[in-house]
Amino acid sequence: MDRRTLLCGLLALTASAPLAGCGTGAPTRRPGVGSARAGDRVAGLADVPVGSGALVDVGGDGQLLLVRASESEVRAFNPACPHQGTTVNPPAGGTISCPTHRSAFDPTTGAVLSGPSPRGLAEVAVAVSGPDVLLS
Ligand code: FES
Repeated sequence: MDRRTLLCGLLALTASAPLAGCGTGAPTRRPGVGSARAGDRVAGLADVPVGSGALVDVGGDGQLLLVRASESEVRAFNPACPHQGTTVNPPAGGTISCPTHRSAFDPTTGAVLSGPSPRGLAEVAVAVSGPDVLLS
């Protein structure tokens, strides 16, 4: 028995509701993607403006910020600001900005450019396949 299984078993004895990540066969959730799995369509390429981006709901309770740097290149980030969790805005004027305390992030890498955020936005792997953007 591994440590995770043991810990989940011990926590299940006292929990009144299912514990995230402790179910058998349940998908492991990654930040921003909810229950979506690799290969799931997250958006149409036409829904993501070139030079900007769009917030899209995925996997039930997930949300991604898609950024389209060129006709064929799309990157995705977890839009939860690492500072206090506010959903950041799609890129405008060359930066992704957080409306709460004004952290700014690089739209090509998610790196912090300014503000109180302790780190950059977490990138999520996506791929363009014809007219669709798919979770990788
Ligand atoms: S929550 Fe984004 S900068 Fe504070």
